[in-house]
Amino acid sequence: MEKITVIGAGNVGATCADAIARRDLANQVVLLDIKPNLAEGKALDIWQTSALAGFNHQITGVTNDYSKTAGSGVIVITSGIPRKPGMSREDLIGTNAGIVKDVTKKAIEASPDAIIIIVSNPLDAMTYVAYKTAKTLSNKVFGMAGTLDTARYKAFLAQEIGVTPLDIQGLLLGGHGDTMVPLPRYTTVGGIPVTDLVAKDKLEAIIERTKKGGGELTNLLGTSAWYAPGTSAAYMVEAIVRNQKRVVPVCAYLNGEYGYKDMYLGVPVVLGANGVEKVIELNLNSEEKALLDASAAAVKKTLDDLKSIVTFD
Ligand code: LAC
Repeated sequence: MEKITVIGAGNVGATCADAIARRDLANQVVLLDIKPNLAEGKALDIWQTSALAGFNHQITGVTNDYSKTAGSGVIVITSGIPRKPGMSREDLIGTNAGIVKDVTKKAIEASPDAIIIIVSNPLDAMTYVAYKTAKTLSNKVFGMAGTLDTARYKAFLAQEIGVTPLDIQGLLLGGHGDTMVPLPRYTTVGGIPVTDLVAKDKLEAIIERTKKGGGELTNLLGTSAWYAPGTSAAYMVEAIVRNQKRVVPVCAYLNGEYGYKDMYLGVPVVLGANGVEKVIELNLNSEEKALLDASAAAVKKTLDDLKSIVTFD
């Protein structure tokens, strides 16, 4: 790909740009921030790892200059404030909704054909803001959350079982909040159902830990996490750039799928060069569907709050 832009050079954005650079996904990576010199400094630092990490394309930092992002194939938006201990992702909505709207407008003006991945929180609502602002196809605007939450789920399971996370296949649905729905019935370890290997109470504890995975890190760090969130976004960028057709949970636009309309929610999709190429509808049992309904209701409530803050023309 010719150019990939990451907006927001904070911890998540810089980690994402670094992971994109290491994967050699584009001829040029542009890192943009509103704070003078921040993106320039981080981009220069990342570029100076090129001889060590073994990549050779350019990474450029810019201060709020969207002309430098023009013609990007993929844009990752990480802008906004992170949470502090004790805050929920939803507490960020008042500040982040305006930021995401402004950033999306400028980004899509410079790159009308771009695929946009949202990382800003509260994720499901911010992805909706970006979609309504960008006025592009819904398969080209989606959010990073399921890849992150699934990666956490896999890491906890791998530790518990004593195997590599690479052999764990898992799936998780719903909003990027404490109501997210990890699905043990769709989790296997080298093809073996996870329930054959992990006792019920241990599995339940891992599911609970996964749901609060972001909060655990916010409490430890005093701000929200960045290595796994940044890397998860880069993983999605790779699926698009290399047209991998990966089956991953993504915060995708639903227009009737799973019974929900005009909202974003985490569901399994096929991710490739066209972005969300297909939403996969699972045959959920009644317990799983009830959990997903509860998560969708929580996301819907945030969306209603959002609509009283932001207007879309
Ligand atoms: C997390 C933030 C990025 O889950 O939402 O770590």
